[in-house]
Amino acid sequence: MKVAVLGAAGGIGQPLSMILKNNLPAGSKLSLFDVAPFTPGVATDLSHIPTDVTVDGFTGDDLTKALDGADVVVIPAGVARKPGMTRDDLFNINASIIANLVRNCAKTCPKACICIITNPVNSTVPLAAEVLKAEGVYDKHRLFGVSVLDVLRSETFLAAELGISNQRIQVPVIGGHSGTTIIPLLSQVIGHEKISAKRVEELTARIQNAGTEVVEAKAGAGSATLSMATAGARFALKVVKGLLGEPGVNEYCYVEGGSKYAPFFAQAVVFGKDGWKEVLDYGNVSEFEQKLIDEAASQLQANINKGVEFAKKWIAENK
Ligand code: LMR
Repeated sequence: MKVAVLGAAGGIGQPLSMILKNNLPAGSKLSLFDVAPFTPGVATDLSHIPTDVTVDGFTGDDLTKALDGADVVVIPAGVARKPGMTRDDLFNINASIIANLVRNCAKTCPKACICIITNPVNSTVPLAAEVLKAEGVYDKHRLFGVSVLDVLRSETFLAAELGISNQRIQVPVIGGHSGTTIIPLLSQVIGHEKISAKRVEELTARIQNAGTEVVEAKAGAGSATLSMATAGARFALKVVKGLLGEPGVNEYCYVEGGSKYAPFFAQAVVFGKDGWKEVLDYGNVSEFEQKLIDEAASQLQANINKGVEFAKKWIAENK
């Protein structure tokens, strides 16, 4: 497996690359790209960790060597928000970064599974789909928005609430990866009946605002990097397992999966040798959760439209 990380020298990219270096299957290649000139140095640093994964680092304008032969591309590149900003406020800067990187993927590794961390994920993923379509290589099974940090946060907060180990809890999180589009299905958590309806509302709000909680705690120095790197690596490693044919590997992510609520929607998918192969039904939801889903649908559609409209304009202007 060759895994490329675009934005590899940044706050998410470096720890993400380190986790991949330590956990990719023996014989894998890790390819780091970033506009930061010290990116080859990050690769040298990682190459001293004794695992059977080779690491190369690239910078500059040409991504060809970094992407050549990549099976999986993880993209944390772009700017992070500061206190007072929403993820959507990042759109104007990050949209063209994603368009450009994804076009490079289309040209050099058109069959790669592309995992997008760059915000606003609700818009950057549909934007990427349009760029891939324009290059004639879009396959919905190979494009993912990384929303799994919402699952990690939900599991952490719910384990603390119930006083049980993080290892013993599973929380489905569906919808999108921004504010009220993040919908944790707390009614499906084992032991949820011990939590009052008021507390469910409070926990849901905390999960929806957890990214902002980090942005405010970092007070201008950016957003979640270490937890996001953990989430991104967990996700990429599962994609790799699927590509290698391991059965039964699944995870929550934001994909074009045929949801009746919005064309792109976060749900659990099962990974296979060609990307995600099946969307898993998320089962019964409470009245409270159904209301959140109904309200999120129009927000998601607006976020998706924004990405698609930008892509169409960008494609026309960057032939
Ligand atoms: C997160 O959830 O922490 C990331 O999407 C970064 C952010 O801006 O909140």
